[in-house]
Amino acid sequence: MKVLLTGATGYIGSAVTEHLTAAGHQVVALTRNSEPQPARGWHAQLVGDTSDPASLAGAVTPDIEAVIHLAPPSGDAEVDTAVIEALATPLRGTGRPFVYTSGVWVLGATGAAQEVGEEAPTNPIDIVGYRPLIERRVLDEAAEGVRAVVVRPGIVYGRGGGIPAILVDRARTQGAPEYYGEEGVRWPTVHVDDLSELFLAAVERAEAGSVWHGVGESAVPVREIARAAGRVAGVAGDPKAVPAAQVAEVFGPLFADALALDQSVSGAAARTALDWKPNRPGAVAELESGSY
Ligand SMILES: NC(=O)c1ccc[n+]([C@@H]2O[C@H](COP(=O)([O-])OP(=O)(O)OC[C@H]3O[C@@H](n4cnc5c(N)ncnc54)[C@H](OP(=O)(O)O)[C@@H]3O)[C@@H](O)[C@H]2O)c1
Repeated sequence: MKVLLTGATGYIGSAVTEHLTAAGHQVVALTRNSEPQPARGWHAQLVGDTSDPASLAGAVTPDIEAVIHLAPPSGDAEVDTAVIEALATPLRGTGRPFVYTSGVWVLGATGAAQEVGEEAPTNPIDIVGYRPLIERRVLDEAAEGVRAVVVRPGIVYGRGGGIPAILVDRARTQGAPEYYGEEGVRWPTVHVDDLSELFLAAVERAEAGSVWHGVGESAVPVREIARAAGRVAGVAGDPKAVPAAQVAEVFGPLFADALALDQSVSGAAARTALDWKPNRPGAVAELESGSY
C-alpha cells in the first residue's frame, strides 16, 4: 500500500516507517520541513503543517491507499478537526484505512479496576482534554466509507527514546532516580517496535470504526522504571518521589499530571482480533538491556 504518514520524522513515526517499508508498503511522509531526508527510506515526501489544515489540501491524492496520522494535536480542537477532515474526506467511499493516533491518557485514572479495555468510557486528563472528541470525529468517518481506526498507545519506550528517556536524563541531572505522584503509580507501556507492528496490523486489517489499545504491559510500577532509569544513569538507589508542586514546576502542570497518572490498561483485544504479537523486552528490561 502507498501510505501517507504524518509525524514520520518523530520517535514513533521513524519506527513505523521502518516496519511499513519492511512489510512492502511505500511511505509518503508528510513533513513540515521541505528538506529532503533520503536516509529515511521514504518513497516520497510532501510538505504540510498540521497547525495549518489548509496546507494539507491535496495531500491525499487518489493513489494514497492509507493514511496514518501520527503528528501530535495542535492544542486547538477546531484545527485538529479540520486536519481530520482534510485527511479523511478524500478517502470517503473507498474503504481505505485512516488510522488516528490517540493515547491511553484519554482513559484517565483507571483506579483499582482490573485492566481497562477499549469499551471503557473515556475520562481524559487535561493534557488530552478534547482528544476523545477527535477520536469520535475519526470514527464517524466509518459511516462515510472510510476504514477509520483509532490506536491508543501506552507509554512508549525502546530505541533509547520516549518518556523513559526523560527519567534517565532526570536521574542523571538530579543525581538520583525519581518518579512522580503516588508510590504505587503504574503506567501501561509498549515497545516502539511492538507498537509499530500494531500500526501495521491496523492499516492492513482493522475493521472500520475500531479502537485498539497499543499496550504491551498493562501496568508497570513507575518506581521500577525509575529504578532502572537510575541504573542506566549510573545513580543506583531507591527512587525518590517528587512532590506534585515541584513536578509541575519542572514539566508544567499538564504533563506533570500525566506523569503521575495511575493506569492499568489492557492490550489484549488487539492480540486476539488483529493477531498482534508484542514480544520485545518489557520496559524495565529494555532500560536495563542497553538501548538507553
Ligand atoms: N511517545 C509516547 O509515549 C506516546 C504515547 C501515546 C500517544 N502518543 C502520540 O503519538 C504521536 C507521536 O508521538 P511521538 O512520541 O512520535 O512524537 P514526536 O517524537 O514528538 O514526533 C512528532 C512528529 O510529528 C511531527 N509534527 C509535529 N508538529 C507538526 C505539525 N504542526 N505539522 C506536521 N507535523 C508535525 C514532527 O515533525 P517535525 O520533524 O517537523 O518536528 C514529528 O515527526 C503523538 O500524537 C502523541 O501524542 C505518543
